[in-house]
Amino acid sequence: MRLRRHGVAEMVRETRLENADLIYPIIVDDTIKGPAEIASLPGLFRHTIETAVSEAAEVSDLGVPAIILFGVPSHKDETGNSALTGVVQDSIREIKRQIPRLVVIADVCLCEYTSHGHCGLVDDEGHILIDQTLKMLQNIALSYAKAGVDMVAPSGMIDNMVGAIRKTLDENGFTQVPIMSYSAKYNSKFYGPFREAVKSTYKLGDRSTHQMDPANSDEAMREVALDVEEGADIVMVKPALPYLDIIYRIKTSFEVPVAAYNVSGEYAMLKSAINLRYLEDNAIYETLLSIKRAGADMIITYFAKDISAKLPYI
Ligand code: PBG
Repeated sequence: MRLRRHGVAEMVRETRLENADLIYPIIVDDTIKGPAEIASLPGLFRHTIETAVSEAAEVSDLGVPAIILFGVPSHKDETGNSALTGVVQDSIREIKRQIPRLVVIADVCLCEYTSHGHCGLVDDEGHILIDQTLKMLQNIALSYAKAGVDMVAPSGMIDNMVGAIRKTLDENGFTQVPIMSYSAKYNSKFYGPFREAVKSTYKLGDRSTHQMDPANSDEAMREVALDVEEGADIVMVKPALPYLDIIYRIKTSFEVPVAAYNVSGEYAMLKSAINLRYLEDNAIYETLLSIKRAGADMIITYFAKDISAKLPYI
């Protein structure tokens, strides 16, 4: 094929994966004294605030524009109170002070902070108490904004969470803080390694009452429409690889930026196969490229450090 010749192939390449597309997740753990390797995510660590700052500096120097922070608190209770003051707020302050150019996003959810591991406050039967949960999510988002976060990312798929958070941010003068909503979050087995990484206590059943059935696609469109109406600035599809069709559908139907979360299970399976030499590490590039080709404007990925030194790929 004439267009596949050296030099010409690059000129006609339709999709380019760049460092500017990537967001790197960093987990900050209040219970450790030094970085702790995560067994289920080979090559990744839970960090202290200090090592989170160096990790953030390293990815920023590689040209990755953004990170997303998750926290592991030293104390968990029924209502997830430690989400309001603690390791994530302190990390935001410290990272923004030392690396102001880096975009700092923070995950807004209760599942890492509640003793039962649910994404919200629950009644005796384990059902989410919507009003109390929304109040908590509003306060968490506000505490992140006060700490200087650049963007908040509510991840619990709780009804009306985007509208509630937007209202609180606006009322407190944070009209310029965007919301990236986990709009189409599937009830997926690919989150397994993450739950180990953040020491989730979640054991009961699954999250099928508030996360989406993997069999549904129209439902994702309805969820995105609702989030956009409530003020979401960026909508997310999670996981990415088993849901490339959803990314494509959302991108072609809504005129909003779409993020895709290349989740822990997707990282673990690829990384393990590469470590075993069953796959070449360029499979990482091919995988992330497929997510971008499907329509993602940005990709949250644990591979950001692995891939960024190699991009743009020639
Ligand atoms: C919820 C949250 C989860 C992930 C991101 N935000 C866990 C869950 O829904 O159980 C998963 C990320 C991953 O698997 O990489 N705070």
